[in-house]
Amino acid sequence: MAYPKFKGIYQTLLKDIHNAGTYKKERIISSKQGMNITTEGKEVLNFCANNYLGYSGSDAASNPAIEATKKYGFGLSSGRIICGTQTIHKQLEEKISKFHSTEDAILYSSCFDANAGVFEALLTKEDAVLTDALNHASIIDGIRLCSAERHIYRHLDMAHLEECLQKAQSKRIRMIVTDGVFSMDGDFAPLPKIVELASRYNALVFVDESHATGFIGQTGRGVPEYFGVQDKIDIINSTLGKAMGGASGGYTTGHKELIDVLRQKSRPYVFSNSLAPMIVGATLGILDDLERTGQTLLGPLKRNIHLFRSRMTEAGFNIIGHKDSPIVPVMIGDAALASMFADKMMTQNIYVIGFSFPVVPKGQARIRVQLSARHTEEQINRAVDAFIAIGKETEIIK
Ligand SMILES: Cc1ncc(COP(=O)(O)O)c(C=O)c1O
Repeated sequence: MAYPKFKGIYQTLLKDIHNAGTYKKERIISSKQGMNITTEGKEVLNFCANNYLGYSGSDAASNPAIEATKKYGFGLSSGRIICGTQTIHKQLEEKISKFHSTEDAILYSSCFDANAGVFEALLTKEDAVLTDALNHASIIDGIRLCSAERHIYRHLDMAHLEECLQKAQSKRIRMIVTDGVFSMDGDFAPLPKIVELASRYNALVFVDESHATGFIGQTGRGVPEYFGVQDKIDIINSTLGKAMGGASGGYTTGHKELIDVLRQKSRPYVFSNSLAPMIVGATLGILDDLERTGQTLLGPLKRNIHLFRSRMTEAGFNIIGHKDSPIVPVMIGDAALASMFADKMMTQNIYVIGFSFPVVPKGQARIRVQLSARHTEEQINRAVDAFIAIGKETEIIK
């Protein structure tokens, strides 16, 4: 065994990560996901899950998952194109494309996979991709896998995007790639301007809606719906691992031919197992539930977002992100202070996480708060009260 010869390399690497203060520890949760969770032997109020609609840990997700498991089994031991496509996979793809008013959809084991598979399959070196500097890591990796010319435009900087589009005019296809809601900053992509530029410079528009599907926009169809540009978006990638049940799974939806090409060429689709029936069944159930009760959930989510944002601003905190975003970064600045702040919140039984470099730029450490439709007004107020008390104690606010 050669490992002892190499062991030191990894020990040094781990030491370096520790020394940089970026070693990540996992907090162990012994309950279901929810607004109240049990961790480290106590019940805490959870403000750091992507559980925007409260489906994670809910019966609305697990009951149809159980039914689907009974009917279609636990797993398929196959990828989709061998013997891994069941009727429910096709039903869900149809339902997702109906939800987004698109022509077709294709399922993946995760949105990370959807992002890893889409660019390489659709673009060649004759093409160009124009990507926001703060797009998610999976988009960055997916673009790395394709041979298209890469233009990274400054975050939300439409003048810079236009410059990049001008430079890419000689290419065969141009594809603008953006997150709908940016996960670290909670801001929205300026889709009206993006689609205008796309039309002027002949470009396709790709939006990753992982932090929007189900809860942003009038009926939860996401950022394109929020801005009224649904019919101008060519490709949407999204996850089933956040608002839509929170287990795992992802998809691409858009024009028929594009989806068909993905079925032929997208490597995480062709060379990986099909999505487990229980997740497919749960998502079908959740989409039905959203049709029935979606509007009921969106109201409380909006109320919570506005209550938290307005009380925190009033208290003197520097919070960023779009006014209608349930991702609310509370800016702290110093990395050690952000981490200490989160620890102090935990002593008040409020679970929030501090994010610092390299996840966000140096000097811009923050606590990222994520709100859910299922938080009660009392829970929001309790979290804000704890923020205010600790904010004063640490002299972040007066
Ligand atoms: C914008 C964005 N895209 C893609 C992903 C990956 O999604 P999944 O967990 O389904 O792989 C995430 C998850 O953090 C995300 O925030």
